[in-house]
Amino acid sequence: MDVKTDVLIIGSGIAALQAARILAEHFQVQIVTKSSITMSSSYRAQGGIAAVTSQEDHPTFHIADTLTAGEYHHERMNVEVLIEDGTKIIRDFLKEGFPVDRQADGAPALGLEGAHSYRRILHAGGDRTGQIMINYLLNQLPPTININCFETAFELLLNTTGECVGVLTKGMNRTKRYLAHHVILASGGAGALYTCTSNYETNTGDGIALAYRAGAAISDMEFMQFHPSLLWSNGEAKGLVSEAVRGAGGIFVDAQRQPIMKGLHAHLDLAPRHITAFALFNKRAAGQETFIDISNIEHFEAKFPAIAQLCHDNQIDIQNGLIPVVPGSHFLMGGVIANNMGRTTISNLYAIGEVACTGVHGANRLASNSLLEGITFGQRMAQFIIKAGCKQNNFSIDVKHHRQPLPLLFTKDQLRQTMMHTLGIVRNPVNMEQFIQQLPSLNTLLQVDLGGLNRQELELYMMHIVATLMVHAAITRTETRGAHIRSDQPQNRTKWANRWIIFQQGQMKV
Ligand code: SIN
Repeated sequence: MDVKTDVLIIGSGIAALQAARILAEHFQVQIVTKSSITMSSSYRAQGGIAAVTSQEDHPTFHIADTLTAGEYHHERMNVEVLIEDGTKIIRDFLKEGFPVDRQADGAPALGLEGAHSYRRILHAGGDRTGQIMINYLLNQLPPTININCFETAFELLLNTTGECVGVLTKGMNRTKRYLAHHVILASGGAGALYTCTSNYETNTGDGIALAYRAGAAISDMEFMQFHPSLLWSNGEAKGLVSEAVRGAGGIFVDAQRQPIMKGLHAHLDLAPRHITAFALFNKRAAGQETFIDISNIEHFEAKFPAIAQLCHDNQIDIQNGLIPVVPGSHFLMGGVIANNMGRTTISNLYAIGEVACTGVHGANRLASNSLLEGITFGQRMAQFIIKAGCKQNNFSIDVKHHRQPLPLLFTKDQLRQTMMHTLGIVRNPVNMEQFIQQLPSLNTLLQVDLGGLNRQELELYMMHIVATLMVHAAITRTETRGAHIRSDQPQNRTKWANRWIIFQQGQMKV
């Protein structure tokens, strides 16, 4: 069955909904998402949105913090666009009535997070910023937008002139074909490739796999950010304990309540995430437990209601002042190469939000820049599409005949465990080489015939593509930079700062 629309959006996080609400004023918009409409990383975001709103702050400071946290592996121009445009867009959000938390004098209450030199984190409902933002955007979608949930997009469709004109999806038991003038990937990241993660288990990097399979260029796959503080309970990570908790005075401590970050970085507990995650990783590797000491935060439950609830649901008694935490995968800086209008290397295919790689996060994203990215690039891309319009497209599909059967793959659990061990916080070349030997080659993966696979098999296949790109990138970048930490190459190497490891059509180039 075919569904025809002007604009097709794959995903339902903040970038998707921001684009949808703007585009719906001009076009027929169809959203397709793999799970329920609110099952996105955006919905789970606690800390907030980084944006310059106070008198003493300035976009140049925000830009400088973004570059420092990401260790200067950025597309500088796109960083400037993100912060400068983002500042204006967020101010418009405030004017239009987005309900941020405010101080007694009516000014926004600004939080502090790692590597920010000023208080600039806007938040809503204490630590429920993502949930409130997503509900706010959903409420603004007109009824003309179609939303189809629980469909896995698995094959982008290109026409005979190489433009993207649609996608195939698999629902519970049938395949559907969507045709559109503009196809937008807003499908999020790939944190669920790891056992220990802040992400939903549906965040398996599908958009990256789809785009790669269709021939789009992909970059920066070696940079997976680990958040230092996921709640640890009964041997499992149970969700995020926002960095805002440390901004409010929380301190990383060991079981003896000794501060962990002392002497490790000038910003102590508010050092960039790769520094704090590495410090906790080392403590745990030495057999020690790790906690956030919240005993000096007044009114914790009022300030952080979602985290207090999470602790309660997992039998962690916050009255004793210690929340057990571990680092876990959180945000992929790499993804589908896109410019600051969301355009990818394939005509009419766009990527926005975490699935995209625009170079704004460098080697390690600055805290709370991700919601800002989704809103800003969602809007910029929507404006680009409005200008471009929906010209008469050639909808004759270039049918590719893939002949390779699905190769023997890791199970989902095996893959996630291997990723944690091999491409976790510290990467060692011997383990990475072994992993590469166990994986099908990138070319083999590209040739796989997906017809007849069920949703679980499709997801596993896409996870293998993403894992394979990540391990090839990580072994190639022979330095430590930001979230990519190598045991054999512990230093930054200047020659690598501006080098991009790019994958396209089964080839890797540096
Ligand atoms: C947090 O609240 O610590 C996460 C926010 C982010 O990922 O930037």
